[in-house]
Amino acid sequence: MKVRILGTAAGGGLPQWNCGCEVCGQARATNRHRTQDCLAITGDGSTWYLVNASADLRGQLLASPELAPPPGTRATPVAGVLLTSAELDHTLGLLTLREADRLAVWATPTVRAALPFGPVLESYTFLDWQSVTPGEPIPLQGGLTALAFAAGDKRPRYASTPDNAQWTVAYRFTDARTGGVLVYAPGLAAWTATFTAGIAGADVVLLDGTFATNHEFASTGMGHLSMEDSLPLVRANPGPRYMYTHLNNTNPYAGEPLALADGAASVATDGELLVL
Ligand code: MLT
Ligand code: MN
Ligand code: ZN
Repeated sequence: MKVRILGTAAGGGLPQWNCGCEVCGQARATNRHRTQDCLAITGDGSTWYLVNASADLRGQLLASPELAPPPGTRATPVAGVLLTSAELDHTLGLLTLREADRLAVWATPTVRAALPFGPVLESYTFLDWQSVTPGEPIPLQGGLTALAFAAGDKRPRYASTPDNAQWTVAYRFTDARTGGVLVYAPGLAAWTATFTAGIAGADVVLLDGTFATNHEFASTGMGHLSMEDSLPLVRANPGPRYMYTHLNNTNPYAGEPLALADGAASVATDGELLVL
């Protein structure tokens, strides 16, 4: 499988438009920006799936030649979108896809019911909703299988449905041909037994890097496991290559690439390509 990491920032991106903090200032000065978190994945190199549709999706698609339609066609290589959550940073890009003839969208029933612009989109394109049930394999074109597992229960701020296990899932993607396994968990609230089982044998684990510490601005109760809490667990669970994504602009690791203490994990960068 190939995985194009389209964006690596949490909501707001880096720099955030209304923030003059040191990390945002440095990103402005060096032009080292991060767009909002999502990725594209393929098993056969021609049929691609988006995992989340970030608010920056248009620019991310234009920066990825493999996601362009073949010359003279409207045959997009993008076969659908799998959502990990209903958060705005992960879903606003669905609006960018409204010119599609049809759009397959995988989401848990809670996420589908909450999305405020689902009905708006249905006036522009045919939305082929696919229900995601944690633990039930999702066969995808091109030889990939996705398996969702519960990763967090915090509702988005706009939503009225109470916190529950369907709000945030992680996906485990398996390529039957190469045996490659990627786990994508940008909204991990806690490193549970479910998570340990979900990453067993994985080659790469994309982890929630929203906050570096537990005393960052607004970090408490946000449903994001901090890097200071996940790094010891990364070290205790060797095997996969761990990469942090969904970095908030309050997280110093979002700025100048800082080496993580002992090389146990790295920070993903926009546009990075993984081949598993
Ligand atoms: C989150 O990841 O917790 C949300 O995207 C925060 C937000 O709404 O900006
Ligand atoms: Mn987010
Ligand atoms: Zn900032």
